[in-house]
Order: sequence, then structure tokens, then C-alpha cells
Amino acid sequence: MQTLQTTSLRVSENQLFILDQQALPQASRWLEANSVESLVGHIHALRVRGAPLIGLSASLLLALLAERGLTRDALLQALEILRASRPTAVNLMNNLDRMKLALAEEDFVPALVTEALRLIEEDKQLCESIAVAGSELVKPGSRLLTHCNTGGLATAGVGTAIGVIHRAHQQGKIANVWVDETRPLLQGGRLTAWELGELGVPYQLITDSMAASLMAKGEVDAVWVGADRIAANGDVANKIGTYSLAVLAKYHGIPFYVAAPQTTLDSQCPNGDAIPIEQRAASEVTGVAGSFGAVQWAPEDAKVYNPAFDVTPAALISGWVLDTGVVTPEQVAGGIFAIK
Ligand code: MRU
Repeated sequence: MQTLQTTSLRVSENQLFILDQQALPQASRWLEANSVESLVGHIHALRVRGAPLIGLSASLLLALLAERGLTRDALLQALEILRASRPTAVNLMNNLDRMKLALAEEDFVPALVTEALRLIEEDKQLCESIAVAGSELVKPGSRLLTHCNTGGLATAGVGTAIGVIHRAHQQGKIANVWVDETRPLLQGGRLTAWELGELGVPYQLITDSMAASLMAKGEVDAVWVGADRIAANGDVANKIGTYSLAVLAKYHGIPFYVAAPQTTLDSQCPNGDAIPIEQRAASEVTGVAGSFGAVQWAPEDAKVYNPAFDVTPAALISGWVLDTGVVTPEQVAGGIFAIK
């Protein structure tokens, strides 16, 4: 396969490498991801993370394994193991469905390579279109609030919500971005803070519990988040803490926008109740660990509830900003996401 480089994926000499998103921002470390076992390990540990990126990394690995001579059966087995690596972000399943169609072709090796590269190029385009559509909704002098990480690290392109914010910043419309640190794994505090800094976008880091008082003080003009799955009725699964922001935004009369590519749509999923929510290890809540060190503060035997995502009901969402443009609550109520 040709050499390829995105913010957090690299193919070089037919090897797949990932930028370790658990090491950032203290260290910029590229790790090999050349077997199903290795990539699944990285996905579980969130060294590879973000809805679009998970699907793209799995697709690239399948194409590379095909080039190395794996049989169709072995590739199908690999595909199913990768599909099961994380349950909530539907981009993984959507991308792998496309790869499965390529695998069914007679000449499946070039078909898989072509499809994986096409998915990467498409994701760049999807991000670009989202940024264009979303930035039109950003008013001059905006103070935006964002949650988790939705930037170039999580996609092959400029990102989704962060792509919108970056484009609006280039248009001179951003006064400040409030960055939720995003407990428990700190995607906001570690990754979004780093990305916005690199992009030169003005931001201030806050703990998740500070959003309410900022909204009450009139310091937030709009909330922008990404999505891991959008159901047919417009309900959105995204990083845990998104739902509370949507409730707060509604109470304070602040627009709440979801930015996502069409690969995040799940028309077969009727509503948020049907979205599988990943449960994660207790250790992520009883303490914290990363390249900055590790600490445990809770009692060793503390019982923990740790869902990685929550569901925001469609009724709390002001607009779904897709690559195809801005979808309104009226269009969603009319069933636009349910139509294939
Ligand atoms: O657990 P993560 O870090 O993979 O969760 C990521 C999110 O929730 C993002 O907001 C979402 O995937 C959109 S990324 C463009």
C-alpha cells in the first residue's frame, strides 16, 4: 500500500502505525498496529480512539493483512474480531460493512486496499463539509463549549466539532472555547486542549462540573459536540457527560449542536435506548493513569459505574451538522434519518 499519513495514523513500508493518544500531550509516540491483536489492544486502551478513527484504523489493517496474503476466510475472521472491538461508535461497523463488500469481490486484495484508501479520503472530505456547514452557524464573538475530543486526532481530516470550531476561528468568529476536561479519561484536558493550542484557537480548560455555572453567567453562546452513533429518531450517543451538557443548554436557552459525518448515522437503530453503551474498567474512575503518572484515590474495593457514553435525546438537540448540511429538529421529526 502507498505511504499514508494523517494526524494519528501512518502507513509506511506496508506497516500500520498509530499515534498513541494515551501518551499525548506529554509524549508523541508512534506504535505499530500490525496484527488484529495489537490493534484491538490499542482500541481497548483508547490509544486509538474517536468514532471515525477506530473504523479507519481497522479498515487499513484489513487491507494490509490482505496484501500480506491472508486468505479470504482469515480476513473475514479478522474483520469480525475488529468489528467487536468497541460497541458504541457505529462508524466501525459502517466502515467494516464496506470492507466486507470489497472482500466479497473476486480480486479482493486490490479491492480492500482501494476501499480502505477511499474511506480515508472520504473521511477528510466529510470533515471538510461539516466544517463548512457548521461554521455558518457560529456567530461572531462566540464563546463555545465543547466536550471530549473531535479533532484531527479522532478523524482522518480536520475533525467534526473541532473542525467547525477551527473553521469559525479562521473566519475570526471565536472569542473563546471552553474545553470540558472530560472525565474519566480526560480526552478534553489532554487532547482537545493540545489540538486547539496547536491550531491557535483561544481556549480555557474547565472541569466538567463548571459548565453549569458558566452557562448561568451567560458565558457560553453554543455547545458543539461530536457523536458516536445517531439513531433514526435523532438521539445521539456521545462521550459520557454530553447529555448533562444538553440538559444544561436547554435550561439556559443555549443552542446545542452535534457535528458528525454520515458514517455515524445508524438508520437501523430506532432510538437511543437501542444503542449499545460500552462499560469500562473501574480503575478509570477510582484513579487516573497516563504518561503523566498514575494515582488511585478511591478505596481499593470501591464499587464503580463507568459507562463510556451517554445518550442525548433528540428533543435537546438544536441541529445535527452533517457533511450534507444542517439537519433541523423538524426534519429529524419527519424521519430524515430513518430514510436510507
Ligand atoms: O471513548 P472515545 O474517546 O473514543 O470517545 C470519543 C467521543 O465520544 C467523540 O466525541 C466521538 O467519537 C466523535 S469523534 C469525531
